[in-house]
Amino acid sequence: MIDQDPIAKKKESSDSQNWPWWPLLPLYPYGLRRTIFSELIPNQIWSFEQLQGLYYVAVPVRLTVVKIDGGLMLINPLPPTSELNKKLNLLVEKYGPILTIVLPTASGLEHKISLPALSRSFPNAELWLCPGQWSFPFNIPSELVGIPKRRTKILIDDGFPHQETCKWISLGPVDIGLGRFQEISCFHKPSKSLLVTDALISINPEPPLLFDLDPTPLLFHSRESGDEPMEDSPQARRKGWLRLILFASFLRPESLSIPPLSEILRNAFKPGLRNFRAHFGLFPFSWNKGWEESAKELIGNTQNYIQIAPVVERLVFPRAKDVYIKWLDQLKDLKDMRWLIPAHYKAPIPFRKRELNLLSSQIKSGKWAKGKGNWKFLDSIDEGLLKQGIVPANPLEPFKD
Ligand SMILES: [Fe+2]
Repeated sequence: MIDQDPIAKKKESSDSQNWPWWPLLPLYPYGLRRTIFSELIPNQIWSFEQLQGLYYVAVPVRLTVVKIDGGLMLINPLPPTSELNKKLNLLVEKYGPILTIVLPTASGLEHKISLPALSRSFPNAELWLCPGQWSFPFNIPSELVGIPKRRTKILIDDGFPHQETCKWISLGPVDIGLGRFQEISCFHKPSKSLLVTDALISINPEPPLLFDLDPTPLLFHSRESGDEPMEDSPQARRKGWLRLILFASFLRPESLSIPPLSEILRNAFKPGLRNFRAHFGLFPFSWNKGWEESAKELIGNTQNYIQIAPVVERLVFPRAKDVYIKWLDQLKDLKDMRWLIPAHYKAPIPFRKRELNLLSSQIKSGKWAKGKGNWKFLDSIDEGLLKQGIVPANPLEPFKD
């Protein structure tokens, strides 16, 4: 048999990864969304991951598929490329139809932007949304962005789906100025797994597999200046990943400086780098000594270290630690919990009573919403917003009974 023409093959695979709605939220990798599929808990839970990010600060975002009575439930939507739908339909053939699609977060734009398209791919699925949906810069009603009203229900207000299999627990709401932060975690009893969106993470020390499909963001950030070529090696990928998690966690980590414009321009537009992939050699970053130690500290020195993401702690819960602790305390009532499955980074992560108690005591006794070192920039954002009255001093005020 003659092999398919490689150009035709490439075109076929990029067609199956096409995401035409990318201009609505122009995040890297724009219209080309490659997907990694894996089974997390045999015959119970599966994961689809795609990259999403700004200026090559791209982290994996996960859609989780859960086995329920009579079919499947999707939690945390992702762009339904034909590659993703094809794999999903293989699960449908084996385990039954997609009965339910859940958007369990009120605020995470990266999780909600693809809900209308995903709901059109599965026109018989019932949709369940976290209450208090909002969008920025325009607060558009759900129907106008293409979320079909006739098959949409609101979590808590209309109850919860599949309660025989799942227990639903709310984190929040807290007022974050432009809208609310709230997410509804799902404890899937048969697999003993807790599914969260942004509430908890565990960061992989090595780059996630998804970057094997396109290591560009890692190679971009592994360099010291814009005139350095983007060369691929396991070391460069690892270095890029450690820098990328510092960006994603602290936005502007302590060990990062912005060089003067003259230096950025001097290093730009060098031969071999005059292309969009290399951002034409424009590289407005300079990493100082100590960055690697910062990254290692962030990952933690125990395997499967679980934490609240610094951005979430410092910008969502700075004055609402009690709300977060209340949620952690509710998790203690879950029977036989074994796994944590977040919408970002590593999954599944061992999460039993032991890990939960350790996390809970660390949070209860530790300093909350720090302002020094790597946390300085996040602190300045929160302080600035608070001063201008954009974020409230009392984030629980609107939700008082
Ligand atoms: Fe998220």
